[in-house]
Amino acid sequence: MGAKLTQALRDREILLIVGGGIAVYKSLDLVRRLRALGARVRVVMTTAAKEFVSPLAFVSLSNEAVHETLFSATDEQEMGHIQLSRRADLIVVAPATAHLLARAANGLCDDLATTLMLATDKRIVFAPAMNVRMWTHPATQKNIDTLRSQGAYFVGPDEGEMACGEFGPGRMSEVEDIVDKIISVCAQETRLPLPRGVQQCPRIIGNDLIGRHVLITSGPTHEAIDPVRYIANRSSGRQGHALAHAAVAAGARVTLITGPVTLADPPACQVIHVESAAQMSAAVEQALPADVFIGVAAVADWRVVQADHKIKKEPGASAPVFTLVENPDILASVAKSQKRPALVIGFAAETQNLIDSGRKKLIAKGCDMIIANDVGEGSEVFGGANNEAHVIMRDSLQSWPKMDKMMLATKLVELIAQRLSPEGANR
Ligand code: PMT
Repeated sequence: MGAKLTQALRDREILLIVGGGIAVYKSLDLVRRLRALGARVRVVMTTAAKEFVSPLAFVSLSNEAVHETLFSATDEQEMGHIQLSRRADLIVVAPATAHLLARAANGLCDDLATTLMLATDKRIVFAPAMNVRMWTHPATQKNIDTLRSQGAYFVGPDEGEMACGEFGPGRMSEVEDIVDKIISVCAQETRLPLPRGVQQCPRIIGNDLIGRHVLITSGPTHEAIDPVRYIANRSSGRQGHALAHAAVAAGARVTLITGPVTLADPPACQVIHVESAAQMSAAVEQALPADVFIGVAAVADWRVVQADHKIKKEPGASAPVFTLVENPDILASVAKSQKRPALVIGFAAETQNLIDSGRKKLIAKGCDMIIANDVGEGSEVFGGANNEAHVIMRDSLQSWPKMDKMMLATKLVELIAQRLSPEGANR
């Protein structure tokens, strides 16, 4: 397997600036997650951050020296502070305290963290964390507007109970959300526009799905019984949405057709919201042509012949009997479409004989690849964070161990990039 797309942030360098706040414990996990996605993470800690956690914890997790002071003879000899900010693909400030935001917004550079932010030529993602009154204070809001106008991105803060006992916005976002933001920002050009009079060669981000159109279905479908009731399933959309993120990160144009989920729309994709299998089928047909189709949605096989009005429970009457009719098989239709994508991939939710059942679906639906995952009791694949899959192809089989759905998505995108021929891109 080519190494290029194994991980969504492979070959990316993230400079993580850690401010002083209780949320610093999440930043430790952030380092772990970014490294798991292939990124190199260099950490800069402010003096206040060191009050909450020892630099040693970041050294251990990042496997890199932690940078702390502006005037360090060793650091300057090995890598000057300008270099540190320039060689990163992205700067992430987490936790971004009110004080750190204020200093950044006002161009102060009185320590290493703020100097790096002023000297950088890359985008900055701030993950604010502070008391609710500090967050809502007009001074902080003005600083945020200033930073946004300079091209900075923000993730969060979340709303909730604060360490100080108050309730409201101010909690640092969950690590998963910060990672999503980093992936989506890294999928775009992270270099800031050049100041007037400065010239530089543009950096070319090589990515294997640039120019490809990837069409993905995700989530459950809701099949109406009457105007107020429906039949659904347990799909959360996490696996399908993770694939959309991974495909965007690999440079693809992504269309995501999703059933009803509570997840936020992945950035940088065209997202089409549908409810029923029939709507999903029509949306898929309309979104073709594509280079790749990935059916991750748990599409209902049947729908109920819908009642025009709410079915009433009458005293003494027997329970209603529903007539089911078959839904269109979206995956099979795409596979035999005149506009058949170069790669048609299905997911198979199985509870037994995963590989055998997956192989049968591969043939019956005419697709090129089936990702068979075990949704049996206790697997927690429906709605959970992890997945374990067998990737069944006509000529081979790969069994992947249990992993984060995002990791599975990036591995699958890598495999897709390998299997696509260089020709035939549908822009
Ligand atoms: O959403 P999550 O909570 O993250 O869970 C992920 C998942 C378990 C939903 C996902 O990994 C998964 O297995 N998706 C496929 C679920 C499914 O419908 O499996 P199936 O074996 O019934 O269908 C096989 C394939 O046919 C699927 O690609 C499905 O999208 C497609 N299909 C099925 C019926 C139908 N009418 N039209 C279809 O296109």
